[in-house]
Amino acid sequence: MNFLADLHFLDFVTSDKEKCFRLYFSILLNEHITENRQKATLNKHSFKSLQKRLKQWYTMKIAVMHPSATPPPSCREIIYEAKKLGSKVIYLRPQDVTVSYRENEIEIYRRGKKLDLDIVFVRGTSSPSSIEQFTWMTNVVKLFETVGSFTINSYSSIVLARDKSILPAILSKRSIKFPKTYITNDLQRALGIVNELGKAVVKPIIGSLGRGVMMLENEDVAYSILKQLLAWGQPLLLQEYIEKKEGRDIRLLVINGAVFAAYYRKARPGFFKTNLAQGGIPEKAELDNELEKIAISTTEALGLFYGGIDVAESTDGGRFVLEANASPNWKGAQFLGLNPAKKLVEEAWKNFKK
Ligand SMILES: Nc1ncnc2c1ncn2[C@@H]1O[C@H](COP(=O)(O)OP(=O)(O)O)[C@@H](O)[C@H]1O
Ligand SMILES: [Mg+2]
Repeated sequence: MNFLADLHFLDFVTSDKEKCFRLYFSILLNEHITENRQKATLNKHSFKSLQKRLKQWYTMKIAVMHPSATPPPSCREIIYEAKKLGSKVIYLRPQDVTVSYRENEIEIYRRGKKLDLDIVFVRGTSSPSSIEQFTWMTNVVKLFETVGSFTINSYSSIVLARDKSILPAILSKRSIKFPKTYITNDLQRALGIVNELGKAVVKPIIGSLGRGVMMLENEDVAYSILKQLLAWGQPLLLQEYIEKKEGRDIRLLVINGAVFAAYYRKARPGFFKTNLAQGGIPEKAELDNELEKIAISTTEALGLFYGGIDVAESTDGGRFVLEANASPNWKGAQFLGLNPAKKLVEEAWKNFKK
């Protein structure tokens, strides 16, 4: 059977949209053939089920959620890629969401209009201005899950990835290595730990872009910094400093259980932070089985549909997960000529089930 030629019987095809259909169809067909290697032909039944999913896809309603007043580049990219495939896409701020609970019914609105979304892409989980804003944003994700939307990432994975103090507990269950980590609210204990570690890193339990991550080498300086952090009500997350091979770490961008991009982030000379926001430079990295396993296992442990995993490689070859990001910056992947937004949209659609 020539499937592409048979598209005309999908009565909702119009000529200008046919291109989208061909694209959907080829993705679905590929998926089907991969799943059924033995019999790469389609029988009537499987063809009907593909057709059903195809129709679902085409009528998909998508939101890209971020707290910013205007969509930042990564959101615009997702919107562009999803629209290109024919979906209805809106940009949504959690601040604009109204929810009503009446007689066990949950309804979600924006500007008086009920939202009935199939997929919600969530970005900006690392940049809300307050803990209340983060809480509301994640609650909105939970609400969408409750009414049946497919949220990327999920509520629980966002919450887990957001907090650096819980990550070691999750990783240790999977025997994934991470730097020695201590969390304390006790100044004397903290100073003892810094002393014991020799060279330590202190970081906010919730933070991103390298902000507030500091190296502690000197006892006097450590005392003043830690005392001030405690005065601001910040729990102290202290970590063994990993002397990174060639002053760089490895960012692995995982999408739907596979590493999509791997790149080094090289710190500026004299700096230890490798974040691109701190002047780090991306460079293509060689992916090997061990890195792949670390990255995939970490995203799986957190339940992330996609995520950015930072791995520090020590000078003696040890590999340690520094953190997992539920809304990873993907500029480094774009630097390698890749299109993460396109991949993310395609994988989301493939996994969407009504
Ligand atoms: N324990 C550590 N040893 C060495 N370098 C570290 C350590 N922790 C963090 N860094 C460096 O600081 C950067 C920022 O730390 P990270 O924990 O990833 O916080 P953020 O969420 O702000 O990116 C990392 O990319 C890494 O280069
Ligand atoms: Mg980081």
